[in-house]
Amino acid sequence: MIETVGVPHVVPLEIILPDEPLLMMGAGPVPIPPRVAAANSIVINHLGETMNKVIEQIKEMGRYVFQTTSSHVMGVGGPGSAAMEMAISNLVHPDDRVLCICNGYFSHRMAEMVSRVRGEPVVLQVANNEQADVEAVEKALRTTKFDAITLVQGETSNTVCNRDLDRIARLAKEHGCLVIVDAVCTLSTMPLEMDQWGIDAVITGGQKGLSSIPGVSLLAFSDKAWNEKVTARTEMPFHWCLDAQLADKFWNQKSYHYTAPVSGLLALHEALRLVCVETLPNRFYRHLHCSEALQAGIEALGLQLLVPKQHRLNSVIGIVTPSQVSADVVRTHMSRVHRVEISGAFGLNILRIGQMGEQSRAHNLFRTLHALGASMQTAGADLDLPAGMAELERFLSQPRSNSSSMTRAMLCDTVIPA
Ligand SMILES: Cc1ncc(COP(=O)(O)O)c(C=O)c1O
Repeated sequence: MIETVGVPHVVPLEIILPDEPLLMMGAGPVPIPPRVAAANSIVINHLGETMNKVIEQIKEMGRYVFQTTSSHVMGVGGPGSAAMEMAISNLVHPDDRVLCICNGYFSHRMAEMVSRVRGEPVVLQVANNEQADVEAVEKALRTTKFDAITLVQGETSNTVCNRDLDRIARLAKEHGCLVIVDAVCTLSTMPLEMDQWGIDAVITGGQKGLSSIPGVSLLAFSDKAWNEKVTARTEMPFHWCLDAQLADKFWNQKSYHYTAPVSGLLALHEALRLVCVETLPNRFYRHLHCSEALQAGIEALGLQLLVPKQHRLNSVIGIVTPSQVSADVVRTHMSRVHRVEISGAFGLNILRIGQMGEQSRAHNLFRTLHALGASMQTAGADLDLPAGMAELERFLSQPRSNSSSMTRAMLCDTVIPA
């Protein structure tokens, strides 16, 4: 006899969720602004004039954050990995050979996705804690003919930044390769110029630099990639939901593909609008200034950063846990006592603090640095907490032009499209 399933005993969310929410200072998701949260609480029809207007604006603002004039900016109902899979499954065809530049967990995920769509990934493994070396990439491109390359701008997993992304993308273009870039944690936190650098697909998630919700993502295809790989395709792509030509029906033809995640798209709209209000140069400056201030504070505490400065990602900071200290004990203490949550890492004995979107605000830096220092001391580390806090304050009060790594492009308005 088949038994009926009884009503489960369920605890209401207000009992599960803490009265005082944790300040999310880990590797994502990140805190969202009230306007994004408010937009996320609305459900409207996924088709029709109101949604069409929202979609048009998301695409227009997407073109701004990606720095592209491409007409193939689209969202995807799914995590950053779905946007990654959408880019790869539409641009990599069976037997295409792809150079996968790997310096961590997420760049390896792209290589795996290439093989799942029956492409041939060739992994260029980058040395630990270093960015991809342009000469090594050039050598690989000269030796073998590739159809595409994949790489991350920022490896959230180990806090390495491929700072020469622009040079690598241009090189790949010269060798006739499509360029697929994961900007999940970096988009709107540091410069990325899709058209200028010759990138064919940029992938991002909502829950990191954009300070929107997880599960609704954004990507852009270049016109070249669209024409050569999406519309010219003769056999069907493997995924129905991720088929870019089907998605184009919703994103460019005002018709139905699947029922779009309207609330998440409204949240994404608001998150993008706040980027436009702030402007990219100001946003890049805020992220860099806050991240460098926090890095200086961490070092003044007496802790060591994982990655040397020339290879270091600013959007997520990796901190070496002193040998006598347990990273888990530090994280638990920070959450329980200070109500601040930071991340561990993928098998590495490090702690990671995010500097993406709303995380990069002075009040969050003070609270996080204090929580980190005090929790490290509780866990047995010998640190100078007042020195760290003083250095953070000193760095944050520096006038804008003195910030060490500001580039011209980040200070002038030329990155804003016409
Ligand atoms: C660089 C990078 N790529 C891809 C992803 C995957 O995003 P998601 O977890 O939303 O699928 C992440 C998430 O942490 C990431 O940091």
